[in-house]
Amino acid sequence: MNLQNLNSEITQIVTQANLSVDDRLLKICKLLDANVDYYNWVGFYFKNGDKNELKLGPYVGEPTDHTIIPFGKGICGQVAVSNENFVVPDVTAQDNYIACSITVKAEIVIPIFVNGENIGQIDIDSNTPDPFTEDDERFLEFVCKEVAKMLV
Ligand code: SME
Repeated sequence: MNLQNLNSEITQIVTQANLSVDDRLLKICKLLDANVDYYNWVGFYFKNGDKNELKLGPYVGEPTDHTIIPFGKGICGQVAVSNENFVVPDVTAQDNYIACSITVKAEIVIPIFVNGENIGQIDIDSNTPDPFTEDDERFLEFVCKEVAKMLV
């Protein structure tokens, strides 16, 4: 799978101004989940108003109890404060990790910036050990930049 092949479909989704932002985010989750076999849970978290916590947005995959994540907690909460990509090849090697499902082996979280501010993130879990490469990081950075355009 060449991830970049999905770029034009991502752009097409974000520019569908007739759909709500959440509908477009869900479409992106579905597109990624359907096309990348090692993406097994795909979702968005966003800063919850002026609180220092993340709130779960649209997602595809098993329901999670972790609909609110305090800044600093878990992989997601760490990205909320570090402003940097976090690639986890093996979740069992992480101390500060929030387990959602026992099938998950690896995780990648990429922040979303609007006007230079970290306002949320895309979070992907994989049931495959160590599946993510720099291609995933570059592709998901593209996804986050496209998503940011509809949140300005
Ligand atoms: N594993 C994440 C929590 C979110 S779930 O993966 C959906 C974390 O450690 O922040």
